Amino acid sequence: MEWNSSLYDNKHDFVAEYGKGLLEFVPKNKSQSILDLGCGTGTLTYQLAELCNKVVGVDSSENMINKAKCHYPNIDFMVCDALDLPFENEFDVVFSNAVFHWISDHNKLAENIYKVLRSKGLLVCEFGGSGNVATVEKSFQQASKEFNCQYKLKFNFPTVEEFGNVLSENGFVIDNIYDFDRPTVLKDKEQGLSNWMKQFYADELAEMPTEVQKKVLERTSSIAKEKLWNGKEWVADYRRLRVIAHKN
Ligand code: BEZ
Repeated sequence: MEWNSSLYDNKHDFVAEYGKGLLEFVPKNKSQSILDLGCGTGTLTYQLAELCNKVVGVDSSENMINKAKCHYPNIDFMVCDALDLPFENEFDVVFSNAVFHWISDHNKLAENIYKVLRSKGLLVCEFGGSGNVATVEKSFQQASKEFNCQYKLKFNFPTVEEFGNVLSENGFVIDNIYDFDRPTVLKDKEQGLSNWMKQFYADELAEMPTEVQKKVLERTSSIAKEKLWNGKEWVADYRRLRVIAHKN
């Protein structure tokens, strides 16, 4: 999927805003090096730079990396695939916010993170856990079906147990792993859910004829309304998985 970095920065900046809570789990050690895995437009990478000697932000989207470089020209950013990281024993911390649910092969991901970390290096990450945005997903799936389009669930939202096993099998020691509800208010009042879908289901929508796109968006909202509209704004049913683990 190619990312719309402007829509992301303007309407979905809550992703980085919530990620600030995760920064508290990064040790404050000026001599350490940090990899920001899936750095997006670099908002949190910039804050990580305050906590270390060296930070590198990587993302698979060229649009995101171009924007990050433009915002923060003094930080090192590069386009790369989380499943093919070009580093070895190089970082004390791998930090990642709201990224791992986009990656279907968590085993290969854990293998890559293990490889780039130094001995005793730390993984600090948060992403969608089991049941994340379930109402949005089901509503979009049903609406698509009603207009003869098929939406195959595309995210990887593991349980605590599933992700914990992946980490253990790849040599990590888990310090803390838990999941929690994080109801998330979407910007732009009535348009909030449609904007969210335009960003995150961009590929699926692009495959539909224009007039169908609009109908699917409207129908998804009408199905999801009972659970996610509070009378004033859309509140998406986010669930987070938060993990602190270290390389053995
Ligand atoms: C999330 O951060 O949980 C998320 C974002 C976009 C699509 C699906 C999940």
